[in-house]
Amino acid sequence: DMGGHDTYMHKEISEQPDAVDRVLRGRIDDRFSTVRLDGLNLDARDARTIRRIKILGCGTSYHAGQIGAQLIEEIARIPADAEPASEFRYRNPVVDPDTLYVAVSQSGETYDVLAAVQELKRKGGQVLGVVNVVGSAIARETDGGVYVHAGPEVCVVSTKCFTNTTVAFALLALHLGRIRDLSVADGKRIIAGLRRLPEQITEILAGEDEVKALAGNYADAKSMMFIGRVRGCPVAREASLKLKEVSYIHAEAYPASELKHGPLALIEPALPTVAIVPDDELLEKNRAALEEIKARDGRILAVAHAPQERADHTIVVPKNETELDPILMGIPLQLFAYHTALALGRDIDKPRNLAKSVTVE
Ligand code: F6R
Repeated sequence: DMGGHDTYMHKEISEQPDAVDRVLRGRIDDRFSTVRLDGLNLDARDARTIRRIKILGCGTSYHAGQIGAQLIEEIARIPADAEPASEFRYRNPVVDPDTLYVAVSQSGETYDVLAAVQELKRKGGQVLGVVNVVGSAIARETDGGVYVHAGPEVCVVSTKCFTNTTVAFALLALHLGRIRDLSVADGKRIIAGLRRLPEQITEILAGEDEVKALAGNYADAKSMMFIGRVRGCPVAREASLKLKEVSYIHAEAYPASELKHGPLALIEPALPTVAIVPDDELLEKNRAALEEIKARDGRILAVAHAPQERADHTIVVPKNETELDPILMGIPLQLFAYHTALALGRDIDKPRNLAKSVTVE
């Protein structure tokens, strides 16, 4: 049942305020300015001794894991990174007893992720899951974890589950942070930010007509560049993947900081750039990248907290706490991918060559 929407993708994008509300529900503990994660199965003493966090997932879940790693580093101050599970499982990984491994999956059935979990467990690694489907194979194989509670996702292309997964990581980061060195004041600040998310997503979705008009302007592009820096980088990667999957337009994602080390050679009027420009400590650096692109007559669509002078268009998104901003900044670009695909007449819910869950090698 599409509930009045023409595609599941559109329905699922629209459901995000409720989905985020669900992942938060019952978990916030105002008394201690933290969150309760019942299924985590990680006691406080163990949480204090973790030296590193390694996040494993594929595709969109990998990108959500990259945002998760950033949230964990910033909020809990534990070194963290994400890697495609599909690569990890084949490189004879060194499994470190002081590292906490986290497997991320919407379906909970992706074979590459499951195989990585099994390999880790065989080598004595501790593995948690950040999973959407309750009782799925990865949920069962992991030692504990955080359910994402996005609800069923039918469209092959993941949208609401991506957003909810990033929120689930924010909860994990806050939980670990408050066991370690995050202050009560910062805990309160993050909680207040989390509580603002559903309303801010509603605000972003209300801008759909503007995004639709923009998508019409870019649908003739043969290729697009997506850039972002630090917090914005995984947002750019995910937006690029979304556009590729549903519109079949070639897209490339790059850290804005790396442009001058090569990809700047591609910039010309026929290659539009989508730039993620949060109002954070890197704002001026990002603006300088926009200057570089403009100097080569590149078209720029910015996603930012205020209109960007160098951009041809800016999609303005509401500001949250700096750490949480990446959760919101990709959402207009889900709509951008959707409307581009619609303008091109694509099979949005079932893009060619793709399956919802990849349960084979
Ligand atoms: C992207 C997409 C895929 C999945 C990937 C992992 O829109 O749907 O990239 O994200 O196959 O799937 P899960 O999260 O089910 O493990």
